[in-house]
Amino acid sequence: MNKMEVKAPATGRLHESTPHDSAAKQVAGRAEYVDDITEPEGTLHAYLGLSTKAHAEIASLDLDAVRAAPGVVGVLTAGDVPGENDISSVHKHDEPVFAETLVKYWGQPIFCVVGETRDAARRAAKLARIEYRDLPHVTDVAASLKDGGKLVTEPLKLERGDVEAGLARSKHRAKGTVTIGGQEHFYLESQIAFAIPGEDDEIFLHMSTQHPTEIQVMVAQVLGVPHAAITVNMRRMGGGFGGKETQGNLFAVVAALAATKFRRPVKIRPDRDDDFQITGKRHDFVVSYDVGYDDDGKIEAVAASFAARAGFSADLSGPVTDRALFHCDNAYYYPHVRVNSLPLFTNTVSNTAFRGFGGPQGIMACERWIEQIAYALGKDPLEVRKANFYGTDDRNVTPYHQTVEDNIIHRVVEELEQSSDYQKRRATVLEFNRTHAVLKKGIALSPVKFGISFTATWHNQAGALVHVYRDGSIHLSHGGTEMGQGLHIKVAQVVAEAFGVPVASVKINATNTGKVPNTSATAASSGTDLNGMAALDAANQIKARMEAHAARIYEVEPSDVHWEFGGIRAGQQFVPFMQLAESCWMNRVQLSAAGFYATPKIHWNRASGTGRPFYYYAYGASCSEVTIDTLTGEYQIDRADVVEDVGRSLNPAIDIGQVEGGFIQGVGWLTTEELWWDAKGQLRTHAPSTYKIPLASDVPREFNVWLADWSVNKEPAIGRSKAVGEPPLCLAYSVVEALSMAVASVADYKVHPNLDMPVTPERVLLGVERLKREKAA
Ligand code: MTE
Ligand code: HPA
Ligand code: MOS
Repeated sequence: MNKMEVKAPATGRLHESTPHDSAAKQVAGRAEYVDDITEPEGTLHAYLGLSTKAHAEIASLDLDAVRAAPGVVGVLTAGDVPGENDISSVHKHDEPVFAETLVKYWGQPIFCVVGETRDAARRAAKLARIEYRDLPHVTDVAASLKDGGKLVTEPLKLERGDVEAGLARSKHRAKGTVTIGGQEHFYLESQIAFAIPGEDDEIFLHMSTQHPTEIQVMVAQVLGVPHAAITVNMRRMGGGFGGKETQGNLFAVVAALAATKFRRPVKIRPDRDDDFQITGKRHDFVVSYDVGYDDDGKIEAVAASFAARAGFSADLSGPVTDRALFHCDNAYYYPHVRVNSLPLFTNTVSNTAFRGFGGPQGIMACERWIEQIAYALGKDPLEVRKANFYGTDDRNVTPYHQTVEDNIIHRVVEELEQSSDYQKRRATVLEFNRTHAVLKKGIALSPVKFGISFTATWHNQAGALVHVYRDGSIHLSHGGTEMGQGLHIKVAQVVAEAFGVPVASVKINATNTGKVPNTSATAASSGTDLNGMAALDAANQIKARMEAHAARIYEVEPSDVHWEFGGIRAGQQFVPFMQLAESCWMNRVQLSAAGFYATPKIHWNRASGTGRPFYYYAYGASCSEVTIDTLTGEYQIDRADVVEDVGRSLNPAIDIGQVEGGFIQGVGWLTTEELWWDAKGQLRTHAPSTYKIPLASDVPREFNVWLADWSVNKEPAIGRSKAVGEPPLCLAYSVVEALSMAVASVADYKVHPNLDMPVTPERVLLGVERLKREKAA
């Protein structure tokens, strides 16, 4: 049971638990997704033809049989692109819509078929006759490093202090490598795009995207038309998780190209298997490290190299690997540190944003060397953690030279240690392992500190459009997108609170590039921080005009006008909100405003590796207990206690949902979700039959989730809240470390198991066997 009681029904006031605006519609099947939109007469359907080689020249492309297939209207190849054959999100010109002469990964789109029905297009796509001349391919980090380590983008280096001297004077060293797996987003709604041609060069797109503006820009670029010709509309996604920050580009431009060519509406929706093989995933990493520390486990110096599988193009691999470095410290102070990234080219899908955006991988590596130090010293890893926590007044500078000003990790961890009864349970686990031969237990408590803001400073801006109508109802549009995370209800609460009206008075509208232009992706967990503030700015502009109007007509001083719930008090008069709106209209007072926000204080110089990339940090901690079967490697999570710092929560029910979902998604990443490419470079785990996301039955037997309700954001972020979307995913490390402890028990905790992530049952079993052998030797 959750420690924080979530009370319903709610008034929608700010800081109160309020149901997600789509919740009732979703359970009733009335929430509209792109594939539910009524198709206009004459709608066509596109399907992609994919490469069946990881790296090859296209020797010949024969699409005659495709064109001749029943129901086919036409095909499109690179030659049909009127603008640029490029959808590279960071403008590196390394990602074509359709491959021209070279294919660089298995599953790369080469052409598309347009048919009267989706089934016709899909069947016809299989009839292509393509001849290839094979080229050598590299598909993983190890192969890439062996091959010279070609990069897709500029690497980053962070440095502070004197690492060589720090390592040299350290009494002990922890050296090693840790492997951290990738992850498929597995959004319930796969990628989809629906393009409707309009007058002249206009295209209107219904999309499932976290980044409507990027879709607009890419479609304009590929069609060779101005941005203003393209309108992107986005009501809700059936999950994005970072997988729809850039990965919708391809589908949008294909639909738009076909719509332009055939002058008919065109929809494209890949099968799950194709979505898996075409679109990028979380980056897997191999991190090698050398850490110097003393007898207490206190770290003196860290040198580490973060190699990541970027795939065939840069996409977001630069900022993702940057964020991994920004989190290589997690919650710990390093007196001397030097870390570098290696975003490696591979002949695989182009890896992309995924909840945490490289941050989780940085944290996993860091927690791994903490764990290794603890095993070497025979200590509880929690003790080593505490010895290294950032200080509040000193020992508080990060590897990127930002001072941590809001450190609350000590209190977060102390409270969890108490409430989870960690020390007593650890003793019980140790005792259990002494007395049980087959089943073994493990327990671990791990912290998280997560930096909030886009590291590319210019992304930290947002816009909103608010209208008040004469009946007092309110139209809200902002640049953020809804993917299930509850952004819309939180921003609606902000606006409702500002005007003193029930949240039901605020109509949440689809995100639309025609209403709010030049937006950033809804990402980096900053959706509410940015769009909440922009919407508040719009509301405040309208309020100021309404206030001045009230002072005028009731002939009171502006200082005698006060907002109350339900309306305005002007001197002795109380005017209901609706009446005030009508009166403003009659008196020609503008009731509409565009709001804007740009995060203050942040700056970042990538060349020097210094600055303040983050506005603030979100903290959290988790304690997990597991049981493994040493004969089969199977395991279960017996209990998990999770506490997350969301500042002053705008909506505790939504935030708890984010913490629960984030934690479980992290558990899936680190335990059962394994991506596997064969020797030919084909991804063979491309369906739920081979790729295992957590089931309801994988939720910990006892799962306690709560918010640090005493926390208040030190910075004046919206309502003094903090971002919640990504940080809790990183809390899943405690499950990995608990599994590690259970495995280590078979060799009396003397050998650090250093299990590769994901820690699948197979790896647990192999770990147990390996440790038993080492103990015997
Ligand atoms: N929660 C749900 N239900 N579905 C999602 O797709 N995406 C996550 C997180 N929580 C996601 C989610 C990711 S990757 C991010 S960056 C944030 O939500 C984005 O939304 P926010 O900035 O509004 O928190
Ligand atoms: N986080 C998430 N998404 C992003 C970022 C980031 O820092 N930068 C660009 N896209
Ligand atoms: Mo989230 S990975 O920043 O979309």
